[in-house]
Amino acid sequence: MVRLYVATALRCFGVLSILYPLVLAGPVQKAGLRVPDSAFQHRDDVKNIFIESYQAYRKFAFGHDDLEPVSKSFSDGRNGWGASIVDGMPTMQIMGLDDFFNEAVQFVGKIDFSESQTPDTVSLFETTIRYLGGLVSSYELSGKQHQILIDKAKQLTDKMAFAWETPNQTIPWRFVDFDTNSPNLGTSNIAEAGTLDLEWNRLSLHTGNDTYRRLAEGSVRTIAGLTDPLPGLAAQGIDPATNAFVGNYITWGGGSDSYFEYLIKYARLTNTDDNLFADEWHTAVDSSIKHLQSRSTVQNHLYLADRDDNGDIVHVSSHLACFHGGNWIFGGKLLNNDTIVNIGLELVEACWNTYASTATGIGPEAFEWLAQDSFQPGDTRPNRQQTAFYLQHGFFITASDYILRPEVLESNFYAWRATGDTKYLDRAASAVESFKKFLQVQSSGGYSGINDVNNVTVSRIDDTESFWFAEVLKYLYLTFDDPDHISLDKYVFNTEAQPFEAPPAKPVYGSGHPYPAQGSYVMKPSGAPLPKISPIPGVSISFGTNDNSNSN
Ligand SMILES: *[C@@H]1O[C@H](CO)[C@@H](O)[C@H](O)[C@H]1NC(C)=O
Ligand SMILES: *[C@@H]1O[C@H](CO)[C@@H](O)[C@H](O)[C@H]1NC(C)=O
Ligand SMILES: *[C@@H]1O[C@H](CO)[C@@H](O)[C@H](O)[C@H]1NC(C)=O
Ligand SMILES: *[C@@H]1O[C@H](CO)[C@@H](O)[C@H](O)[C@H]1NC(C)=O
Repeated sequence: MVRLYVATALRCFGVLSILYPLVLAGPVQKAGLRVPDSAFQHRDDVKNIFIESYQAYRKFAFGHDDLEPVSKSFSDGRNGWGASIVDGMPTMQIMGLDDFFNEAVQFVGKIDFSESQTPDTVSLFETTIRYLGGLVSSYELSGKQHQILIDKAKQLTDKMAFAWETPNQTIPWRFVDFDTNSPNLGTSNIAEAGTLDLEWNRLSLHTGNDTYRRLAEGSVRTIAGLTDPLPGLAAQGIDPATNAFVGNYITWGGGSDSYFEYLIKYARLTNTDDNLFADEWHTAVDSSIKHLQSRSTVQNHLYLADRDDNGDIVHVSSHLACFHGGNWIFGGKLLNNDTIVNIGLELVEACWNTYASTATGIGPEAFEWLAQDSFQPGDTRPNRQQTAFYLQHGFFITASDYILRPEVLESNFYAWRATGDTKYLDRAASAVESFKKFLQVQSSGGYSGINDVNNVTVSRIDDTESFWFAEVLKYLYLTFDDPDHISLDKYVFNTEAQPFEAPPAKPVYGSGHPYPAQGSYVMKPSGAPLPKISPIPGVSISFGTNDNSNSN
């Protein structure tokens, strides 16, 4: 951490100089970090798992979205464009699997993103983070030589842009029917509306068309401009028709998670001089420290609780929410704030404990705890079995499945790169062993989810989501790799673990303090042009009524 005291040369009558503390952004990674030689064996293990499971995908499911490793078949839950290929491409590039990567580039050239290959409408969020994120990241990681990746990204995103139905709409609808270019109307949530701006901003950078950035960023600006139930902690539901929150539910888990995640990542990726993004994130973190922090009565683990529509705290958390430790470490470093980094590290501990405590060594989908700050109306009363488990481990399982999610190992990766404590390498190695033992399907070589992480005679979930290739194996691989490879000081990961090249960090992110009260950021009136911010080099930006090229 670098805290510089800048001597401002205020020399009054030649007598004194005053020292002002100036809080500078710290590097995210620990300086001089190296992995021990033993790590490379684990790295190769992870690479082999990728090869085995991707070969199984190629054999039984190539061109489809997911492998079904038990039935040796496939499913198409992401519009049938080959999600595992596109989402997996940056991992292939990072692991040096050039044959797979080149095959994937060929494949992408043949995808027709102008229509869904299934009867389904297209999810703006899922399609952005997996397909658009995968294409843009692959383009950057492979030295910007495959223009086809950007051409296809543009074809896809021009269709997704119909999620903004009217010129004055700032928050997009969740789904678009690619046959009719019309959105499905209905309530959205802040995760789906607020997890587009990294990807759409990069597409603007690589195409010179600023409309993508303007649309995606406008959605985040609108959400950040609303009056929150707690300062910085936006409610989960949002109505694109009215720009109003739906309910008051607050969580760092699904439906809200990556809205918070992207606030600080957008500040870092764009280096915008507009403090909105970093300050809004800091405000959310500050409120979480004040209102959502909760410790278990057993083992004193630190968790972040939810807050329900009535304003009651609910002591629930999830695998999805466990990205928060890594995100607080990352943002805390950028804000040069040890308090935030250290809470992030404690959250990493509690999330890892959900792995360390089960029979398989893998963590569950959802869990709860009994809080030192008292039992609340929304809390689950644990049954006998859950109580026994709780007394041993400081949490109890409320949804026991594991569907190949990354978040616990993602935060473990941030903790390793930020601290250099080798216990994080040991944890990643232990997860690899558990995966080999309990997830691999011998008959196909693929990897499946399981229904009960606390039962070693597990029953399988016959699916390999694309985030197995995109996230789990990439975070594990990079944990064991040379820390200079995809350094957290040079790349910003999207919520699907797709790294985007970041410029050198700014000296300072945000104003240095959370907003004093809610509503201090005034929302732009509907229809008003957005302020000219974070200009992208080489992009001429024009604002005005005729720039609403998304409406037909
Ligand atoms: C820029 O992107 C928008 C949104 O997809 C699209 O409607 C417009 O045609 C694009 N402009 C150019 C010049 O390609
Ligand atoms: C937005 O535009 C639509 C039609 O283009 C119009 O019906 C609606 O009233 C406008 N909403 C606002 C808030 O201006
Ligand atoms: C770090 O952030 C926390 C949470 O907002 C705040 O309470 C604390 O004062 C900050 N520390 C510094 C040194 O700015
Ligand atoms: C573990 O799962 C198997 C098969 O699903 C089941 O028969 C068994 O009762 C479970 N064991 C425990 C301890 O829950």
